[in-house]
Amino acid sequence: MSTLGTFTGQAYQNQEETYFDDGREIALLHFIYNHPNLSEMRNNPDKVIAAIDEYGKEKKYLMNIGEFKSGIVTKLIAQVKPRVMVELGGYVGYSAIVFGAALRAANSGGRYYSLEYNPEFGAVIASLVDLAGLHDVVKVEIGASSSSLQRLYADGTFQDGIDLLFLDHVKPLYVQDLKLCEELGIVRPGSVLAADNVVKPGNPPYLKYVRSSVQEKRDEARTASGGDAQSLPHRTSSTATNGQLFKLNDKGEVTEPKLFGNPNLVYESEFVEGWEPSGVPDAVEITRCTGVETS
Ligand SMILES: C[S@@+](CC[C@H](N)C(=O)[O-])C[C@H]1O[C@@H](n2cnc3c(N)ncnc32)[C@H](O)[C@@H]1O
Repeated sequence: MSTLGTFTGQAYQNQEETYFDDGREIALLHFIYNHPNLSEMRNNPDKVIAAIDEYGKEKKYLMNIGEFKSGIVTKLIAQVKPRVMVELGGYVGYSAIVFGAALRAANSGGRYYSLEYNPEFGAVIASLVDLAGLHDVVKVEIGASSSSLQRLYADGTFQDGIDLLFLDHVKPLYVQDLKLCEELGIVRPGSVLAADNVVKPGNPPYLKYVRSSVQEKRDEARTASGGDAQSLPHRTSSTATNGQLFKLNDKGEVTEPKLFGNPNLVYESEFVEGWEPSGVPDAVEITRCTGVETS
């Protein structure tokens, strides 16, 4: 139940049964590049975001984080001042543009990696990021998130870890990709996680994981491994072919070897409520990795 009261403001169009990948993402590009205010949008992230919101409100629903919940994450960016921020799930670039602009304003020389599975959506992100003048901050990486994370780890992009990880892709992959980042050592003490949609549609396995104690996670890993998880962490992908230690199926799920994460990482987690752009209550789970237990 939301404690925020009643939604005020103009909501996006209804979500309906089919709500993405029906041509609306390309229609959005036509809408923007034919917009009477196009010239004002160049190098202006706020104006590009206003045009995307206008499309969502007047034309068709878009599965963006929206203006209400994005404020939760922009505040976090101002605090954390990430050098490396990664998003899992980019869609049409709404979050990449809002958070890329916040990263630039934080003045930390940070880079934003937008990991998107669908190459058409990735092309839309790149086009709108460029229009907003953020191509020097935001880099779009096409492919399944678990594959791109391993590739960017192996090529050294994440050698100093991920400072801020924004999870907003397929809900069952939140835990998988977090455990993958833990095993690669790129989520580590000092890293902060922001997970969208923990109320709508909800993600109980993810909330359970980030709210568990080290002992609970160790017990779970030991049970899942048949008592063989003592040697964790870390496996690394440095010896693997093409930097891919963990093999994936065509849904982007890790098939082998089994992923256990690093249960020794200590998390402090906070539930922050907000609204979906459609006016439905939702929340972002903000989780800080505060240490590692070795005993
Ligand atoms: C909710 S949308 C992201 C919204 C975006 N973060 C925003 O707020 O503007 C989810 C996106 O995740 C992408 N996605 C789904 N599975 C993925 C995967 N395995 N790796 C990367 N992206 C994925 C989808 O194609 C979709 O574009």
